[in-house]
Amino acid sequence: MKVDVLLGLQWGDEGKGKVVDVLTPNYDVVARFQGGPNAGHTLEFEGQKYVLRSIPSGIFQGDKVNIIGNGVVLDPALFKEEAVALEKSGHNLKDRLMISKKAHLIMPTHRVLDAAYEAAKGASKVGTTGKGIGPTYTDKVSRNGLRVGDLLHNFEEKYAAAKARHEQILKDMNFAYNVTETEKAWFEGIEYLKQFQLVDSEHVINQMLDEGKSVLCEGAQGTMLDVDFGSYPFVTSSNTVCAGACTGLGVSPRRIGDVYGIFKAYCTRVGSGPFPTELFDEVGDRIRDLGHEYGAVTGRKRRCGWIDLVALKYAVMIDGVTKLIMMKSDVLDDFKTIKACVAYKVNGEMVDHFPFDISEGVEPVYVEMPGWKTQMSKMQGEDEFPEEFNNYVSFLEDELGVPIKIVSVGPDREQTIVRYTD
Ligand code: GDP
Ligand code: IMO
Ligand code: MG
Repeated sequence: MKVDVLLGLQWGDEGKGKVVDVLTPNYDVVARFQGGPNAGHTLEFEGQKYVLRSIPSGIFQGDKVNIIGNGVVLDPALFKEEAVALEKSGHNLKDRLMISKKAHLIMPTHRVLDAAYEAAKGASKVGTTGKGIGPTYTDKVSRNGLRVGDLLHNFEEKYAAAKARHEQILKDMNFAYNVTETEKAWFEGIEYLKQFQLVDSEHVINQMLDEGKSVLCEGAQGTMLDVDFGSYPFVTSSNTVCAGACTGLGVSPRRIGDVYGIFKAYCTRVGSGPFPTELFDEVGDRIRDLGHEYGAVTGRKRRCGWIDLVALKYAVMIDGVTKLIMMKSDVLDDFKTIKACVAYKVNGEMVDHFPFDISEGVEPVYVEMPGWKTQMSKMQGEDEFPEEFNNYVSFLEDELGVPIKIVSVGPDREQTIVRYTD
């Protein structure tokens, strides 16, 4: 059996949580493969809204198995908060959620280091989520990390050694901090974590695949935030691209089946860094208002702009996307015209491929199309789509060379239109 991968093609917040929840009934297993509580994945159904950060978005659909893979970084305190809230609302997790022993732990001092490094960068700060993501992955790569499986042997000793190392760095940076309270919550989280199934998830997943079970891998962040291919250094610290599913779960590239690439009908970004199609005018403000473009967890204002096909084509190439999913189509319902960036002018020269550096001198080249001026949020099927919307869909499919399988017209599970079945 193959694994399918669903990932964001832009700068995150494309609507991954919603679509994973919608697709889960087609799978036996849903697995997160990278990132951590920097993610905020929103789901809405039956009048309820949930925001997931570390727990996969397949958790609400029946008794499917959900896995937090080795590529994820886990904060036990935040995990406990999230899991307890879900359990209180009647969702039993312990039988259905497995956690990789190889997933790395975010320590309280990782969060302090995140803040210290950001402060040291001053005006060129990344605008991180402050969850300790960068320092935790740094410790992983420099072979100093603490893993979930370490809970089972000499944990206190390993924790103390890692903490001492962090304290020395913070002392050298002259950064004031106090982790007394956060450490208490963190150790409570550690005890709570021990009640879950801590597994060798690479074995579990491969065995399930051999038994004919199907797996959906849920990406966090988006391709333009990938540490290798995103707008470096304004990126996150993991591989958000399709290949990340192989390293973050222990599945071979030969196992990858469909790759669902998800994007908004426009584009947003949160935090610092270049964004060629960003709008600083009332059109950008309108998209933000209509799309409620504020961080799912932090409430931070998301920067808004038109769709960027130069960046999207690049993401489709890197990820090997086989099916596209367009989100938030309804947000553009009321616009007289809609723009799409089809090329960049870099220092006056036309460029249609994604360049090494987009931080300066990049001017988007747009095509402008008539808007559909029709409310889409109550539509049930493709036959109700207005002509101008169909034209936008066809235009994007031609430009990107991949079919758009799903169109989302609102935040609820039900507001999802599947254009064709395989
Ligand atoms: P994720 O991180 O990719 O899961 O996305 P977020 O949850 O951070 O942000 C997506 C936001 O858009 C959430 O508030 C969703 O409820 C909302 N959303 C998802 N799909 C649609 C849609 O088609 N239309 C509208 N208006 N909102 C949507
Ligand atoms: P989901 O999964 C949008 C951004 C941060 C910052 C940069 C680095 O909900 O799409 P980090 O804390 O990861 O070191 O921050 O990445 N960022 C996200 N932006 N959605 C996310 O996740 C993000 N996770 C991180 O704003 O610019
Ligand atoms: Mg999000």
